[in-house]
Amino acid sequence: MAKQGATFSAFAAQGSVYRISAVVLFVWALLHFLFSPSTPNISNEEAQAASRVALQHKIETAQVGEDGFKILAKDYFEDFYGAQECKISSTRVYNPMLKSDGSLMRPYCDSKAKLLDALSGGGRVGFNAPYHPRDCEYRWFSAEEACMILDRFDAVLFIGEPRMTANIYGAFNSLLRKNLAWGALKNWELNEQQRQRCRCDAQYTNPQCGGTSTGSGDHFIVDSTEILDAKEEGTKTGAPYVCNRVFHGIVNVNSEPVAQSTLEEIDEIMTTYHKTAKPVPIILQQGLSLGFNWDRSTKVMDAVTKQIESHEPNPVHRPVLWLGPQAAGHLKPPGAIIEQGNNALHHFSIELSKRARDRGFDTLNLYNMTLQADSFDGTMYGGDVSLTTAMMILNWLSRVESL
Ligand SMILES: *[C@@H]1O[C@H](CO)[C@@H](O)[C@H](O)[C@H]1NC(C)=O
Repeated sequence: MAKQGATFSAFAAQGSVYRISAVVLFVWALLHFLFSPSTPNISNEEAQAASRVALQHKIETAQVGEDGFKILAKDYFEDFYGAQECKISSTRVYNPMLKSDGSLMRPYCDSKAKLLDALSGGGRVGFNAPYHPRDCEYRWFSAEEACMILDRFDAVLFIGEPRMTANIYGAFNSLLRKNLAWGALKNWELNEQQRQRCRCDAQYTNPQCGGTSTGSGDHFIVDSTEILDAKEEGTKTGAPYVCNRVFHGIVNVNSEPVAQSTLEEIDEIMTTYHKTAKPVPIILQQGLSLGFNWDRSTKVMDAVTKQIESHEPNPVHRPVLWLGPQAAGHLKPPGAIIEQGNNALHHFSIELSKRARDRGFDTLNLYNMTLQADSFDGTMYGGDVSLTTAMMILNWLSRVESL
């Protein structure tokens, strides 16, 4: 007691300086408490009410997109290289429908089957407007989330055709490199002129860049090991992947019967990368080089999957997604209409997805997604369509079972 008293008197003895500072401090605290715009001990209800008001304001002032819905989705391309140059924001292709209170009008698809049905059966509200799946929403994953999805697998393998699947795999790379300007391409292969020319949509549509039928001017990335190589070369770096832990690549098939060398390429990938009990998902697309012949396309489907089966007998460890063709663009040359016109393409899509399902495969049709999208010639869509398709494939991958 004595000690405390002593301390107190010592404190008081220090003079009025302390008393004045105490009063000043008290007055300051009082004023701060009375006039501060956000008091620190705001209640939960008040915070919620404030955020409701903020959201309401955001909704009221939000721009209306091409699809007539207000754009409130996050722009996932904000920190992508080339987003401004290519004039693309993710909200231009992905704009989930919202209620007036800002919540989702339709829930996210709650199963893999519903997701694929919704993605295959959706539509656009106007030409080139964002594509809306039927009945439920899909997600737009960030590159970091895509990395977590890929980590669930030993490898991810695209098997398809130049001018169809190669564009989609190109866009897949663009997403993982956060690079919209030339993320689909082996930029280190390009000379200065090509570097200028092969940017944004031109990556996909210019035959000197990626989109070629002969493969001669094909600068699309073929597999994920190429990016590592480029990185090691130092000066030729360009954009590395956000993550590069899981092998992914594309094997191009363009003959029926499937060439022996193609089957060996598939063998080699399975032997090299399928080392654990994690699955190797396969994205399979075929048709254009076979004139969309049903039986020949089925033969390729069977030959390729038989080869994979010889390495991995358990279908759970080698899930297959059969990818239907895109619709014919409205600028398709008349000569190609009979074989590849939209009527033929729709029938091909329906029949082949039935055959694929009979074999236990998942299916995703791109017909409805491309029906109202701008295309150069029906086989070469720009970045929008390829990026959207690549994101749909990531949605499928996120739903595939893993360990
Ligand atoms: C396109 O969408 C419609 C309506 O949802 C659906 O019936 C049709 O099967 C879809 N087409 C393809 C090729 O999947």
